[in-house]
Amino acid sequence: MAKIISLVNQKGGVGKTTSSINLAAALGKLGKKTLLIDLDSQGNATTGLGVTNTQIVHDVYDLITRDISINEAIIKTPFDNLDMIPSTINLAGIDVEFVKKMLDDNTFRQNEQLKNKLAEVRDYYDYIIIDCQPSLGISTMNALVASDSVIIPVQCEYYALEGITQLLVTIMMVQSDINPKLQIEGVLLTMLDGRTNIGLEVIEEIKSYFKNKVFNTIIPRLVRLVEAPSHGKPICYYDPESRATEAYNNLAKEVIKRDGN
Ligand SMILES: Nc1ncnc2c1ncn2[C@@H]1O[C@H](COP(=O)(O)OP(=O)(O)O)[C@@H](O)[C@H]1O
Ligand SMILES: [Mg+2]
Repeated sequence: MAKIISLVNQKGGVGKTTSSINLAAALGKLGKKTLLIDLDSQGNATTGLGVTNTQIVHDVYDLITRDISINEAIIKTPFDNLDMIPSTINLAGIDVEFVKKMLDDNTFRQNEQLKNKLAEVRDYYDYIIIDCQPSLGISTMNALVASDSVIIPVQCEYYALEGITQLLVTIMMVQSDINPKLQIEGVLLTMLDGRTNIGLEVIEEIKSYFKNKVFNTIIPRLVRLVEAPSHGKPICYYDPESRATEAYNNLAKEVIKRDGN
């Protein structure tokens, strides 16, 4: 049965999308059947895998709000063992849509829609990776309720931990309320700039706070990771021999190891 992992941080620009795409692709390359779900209305994970509008029949918004089967929203990618569910700007309307639904029907459970849809394919995949948007709104709540664990990407910079308390409180609320099995898979340090000391100071701070929850793999700041999405490819296909490929491959191995399989 698939392990469902969300990449969450309500701060934008910390490496959620870059890490979702490249972790999912690395897991696929390691032979794990993987589904990447783009749960951000900006659709960066969608374009980052080279999926274009003409390929999209149903997006993640349709999946969560309409009575369609998840198989109607899944797109096969040209990459090993990697499928995806795309997102479009439509997702930006979900909060309004769900408030209306709750007013019409007081039994409607607005945070459990994604979880119910994923049940249909959980046995098929090894991993389901969810790229969340930079907010703790309804779509991210759907991800937290559906997930077994979360990866929190944190950029190696000053103020890295800004907003982390609010995120942890939200995770605890979900744990005590609807999803007691939700775990913190790990904190992922991203965009480490080897030329400054700032990154190293931040690493010490985060490690003293999160202890062994911090992944050993640290993602360096590398321009190849910025280029790859504009070619519609994960890094392990865009530049297989790069340090960036090695970093996400190591992360994927750590994730598999923590899972014990
Ligand atoms: N390791 C990295 N090295 C260099 N640039 C990166 C790295 N990770 C992400 N970026 C760039 O930083 C920006 C924000 O990253 P992104 O993954 O979109 O963050 P988020 O999804 O959290 O908003 C993007 O332009 C991305 O290309
Ligand atoms: Mg993003």
